[in-house]
Amino acid sequence: MTDTTNDIKHVDSPLARQTLLDGRLTEPVAGKRPIRLLPWLQVVKIGGRAIMDRGAEAILPIVDEIRRALPEHRLLILTGAGIRARHLYSVGLDLGLPVGSLAPLAASEAGQNGHILASLLAPEGVSYVEHPTIANQLAIHLSAARAVVGSAFPPYHHHEFPNSRIPTHRADTGAFLVADALGAAGLTIVEDVDGVYTTDPKGPDAVQAQFLPEVKASDLIAHNSTLPFDRALVDVMGTARHLEHVQVINGLVPGRLTAALRSEHVGTIVHTGVRHT
Ligand SMILES: Nc1ncnc2c1ncn2[C@@H]1O[C@H](COP(=O)(O)OP(=O)(O)O)[C@@H](O)[C@H]1O
Ligand SMILES: [Mg+2]
Repeated sequence: MTDTTNDIKHVDSPLARQTLLDGRLTEPVAGKRPIRLLPWLQVVKIGGRAIMDRGAEAILPIVDEIRRALPEHRLLILTGAGIRARHLYSVGLDLGLPVGSLAPLAASEAGQNGHILASLLAPEGVSYVEHPTIANQLAIHLSAARAVVGSAFPPYHHHEFPNSRIPTHRADTGAFLVADALGAAGLTIVEDVDGVYTTDPKGPDAVQAQFLPEVKASDLIAHNSTLPFDRALVDVMGTARHLEHVQVINGLVPGRLTAALRSEHVGTIVHTGVRHT
């Protein structure tokens, strides 16, 4: 009888015989820090309500600032949704649509805002790209142009978690997830307030609002007041793999975005729970 054992190629896989549910077994293989795919990338999230809904008065100065930043940085500019998504939510909720149907409706407004911004930056070679392009072809697009614009919403659609009638994973969460997954150099969240306060600085308790120059995401979990970003952002920041912090800045003040892209402290720095393992 011929002995064929030497010709058989055994593919050794450390997870082949293991349950993926046991952390002690997966940790030696899956516990390593992922590589940074685009370590030179700066991600900028532009608020839908805070910036885009204000029209030319707020958008044109930001476009000008982005234009001047292009020789210095390579940018993924992600836009959020504003007033039109809120109207879509109210109509959709009134009709009883599930959260997974509402998510892409709101995301489509974030996309519209992105198209507006990209049109204004088109002379600089900037264009709007869809989610699959961000996922797979960002490197080549950013080799051809200094920046691209996309929707900040994560593409959850009917996979959105059903724990709330309003999608919990919105523009800030989407921007953070993609920035961290790509191993970007930074994420700047552009708002219409100087950063994070102890309570809404434009709300009924505005007089008590204190500015927080720095805060840990973990400290915001217990923070009962509203925030200028999605609450789900606080959760995803707790499991960050690369980004050590994000900065929330006031995009209505000229020069703040330029300074933030240069790593200057000009807003609120929110520290993640990044693990350097
Ligand atoms: N704790 C807080 N600190 C700062 N701003 C807050 C806070 N809570 C609520 N806000 C409000 O959030 C607003 C931004 O709204 P938001 O829905 O985040 O806009 P966008 O859609 O542009 O991200 C600010 O103008 C501010 O009034
Ligand atoms: Mg916001």
